[in-house]
Amino acid sequence: MKLTRLSLENYRNYHELDLNFSQSLNIFLGENAQGKTNLLESIYVLAMTRSHRTNQEKEIIQWGKDYARISGEIEKKNSQLILEMSITPNGKKTKINHLEQRKLSDYVGKLNVVLFAPEDLSLIKGSPQLRRRFIDMELGQIDPLYLYYLTVYQKVLKQRNRYLKKTGNNKVDFTYLEILTEQLASSGSHVIYLRHQFLQKLEKWAQIIHGKVTGHNEKLSMRYVPTIDITPDMSVENIKEAFIEKMEKNLKRDLLSQSTSLGPHRDELMFFIDEKNVQSFGSQGQQRTTALSVKLAELELVREEIGEYPILLLDDVMSELDDDRQIHLLETIDGKIQTFLSTTTLTHLSHKMTTTPEIFNVVNGKIK
Ligand SMILES: Nc1ncnc2c1ncn2[C@@H]1O[C@H](COP(=O)(O)OP(=O)(O)O)[C@@H](O)[C@H]1O
Ligand SMILES: [Mg+2]
Repeated sequence: MKLTRLSLENYRNYHELDLNFSQSLNIFLGENAQGKTNLLESIYVLAMTRSHRTNQEKEIIQWGKDYARISGEIEKKNSQLILEMSITPNGKKTKINHLEQRKLSDYVGKLNVVLFAPEDLSLIKGSPQLRRRFIDMELGQIDPLYLYYLTVYQKVLKQRNRYLKKTGNNKVDFTYLEILTEQLASSGSHVIYLRHQFLQKLEKWAQIIHGKVTGHNEKLSMRYVPTIDITPDMSVENIKEAFIEKMEKNLKRDLLSQSTSLGPHRDELMFFIDEKNVQSFGSQGQQRTTALSVKLAELELVREEIGEYPILLLDDVMSELDDDRQIHLLETIDGKIQTFLSTTTLTHLSHKMTTTPEIFNVVNGKIK
């Protein structure tokens, strides 16, 4: 799919902007703090309704203004879409072809994006929360059902934690708690099941790509580690039973700690190179290559699931990668994946590119 046009209004340092894009490579070129990342972020927000840089969407509204607006024209194999999103301090609204969308899961996934930013290099090394967020964002945009179950899960989890806190050492309403636990296991078992399926497919692609990037010197594998023990042949129903059973065993602990100790909100994802844990034993180079392989794997996975490649956003990452990895990256996207790349300089890049890029000079919230 392609993003052919983007319009911004009051988006961070862009007062008003209207751009038409090339179907292959688009480069946002400029000094620091001019608005390159803001542009990439706006495309990401248009697709996901959330920013990768902040949990406070209000932050993207231009200082002193009371709303921000993003709209984009999308060309897919069999359709054309206009996506619109507006943000005010009170919340956000989304539209597809001018029709307002009430459910997140109806909107997210219409424009598929893969973003590779410097902070992704810590996907391996960073906190488990980063890896869970990664799974949620990637799986959420290819499977609306996942997004639905995840939203339900998070709502029930909040409710359960609130109750555990409120009741403290007082009289516990075990029947009520049981109902909440059942609801948690109900949505949570779908979340676990879908994460497991997704990570198996992602691993398959990541393995192929990692092999290519390292000249078949390294074998990458991934392991999903949910807090509920599962086996590959387990159905959603089986997982739910195991979930409830383990929750019952942990009930005392939850009452003591006044929080929910088990469930997808505590899941972990691990990476191995030749059976060695990359997080603990990998060199910085291996961690980077792993992050890159996983991101490139997403491109293939989206194509497998949706039938089209997503668009790719590369924020200032070329300079973080060595020559071999840069060349591999450019070869991967060459001609088939519409790419938006931000950089402060073209010097390292130009001789590696085979397509002529469209270059946008970014200067203080304007395109020159
Ligand atoms: N809500 C906002 N309103 C106006 N300007 C903003 C807002 N948020 C960030 N900025 C400005 O955007 C600029 C940073 O843009 P960014 O895209 O991160 O730069 P870079 O080109 O280095 O990627 C800074 O000058 C910052 O002051
Ligand atoms: Mg930047």
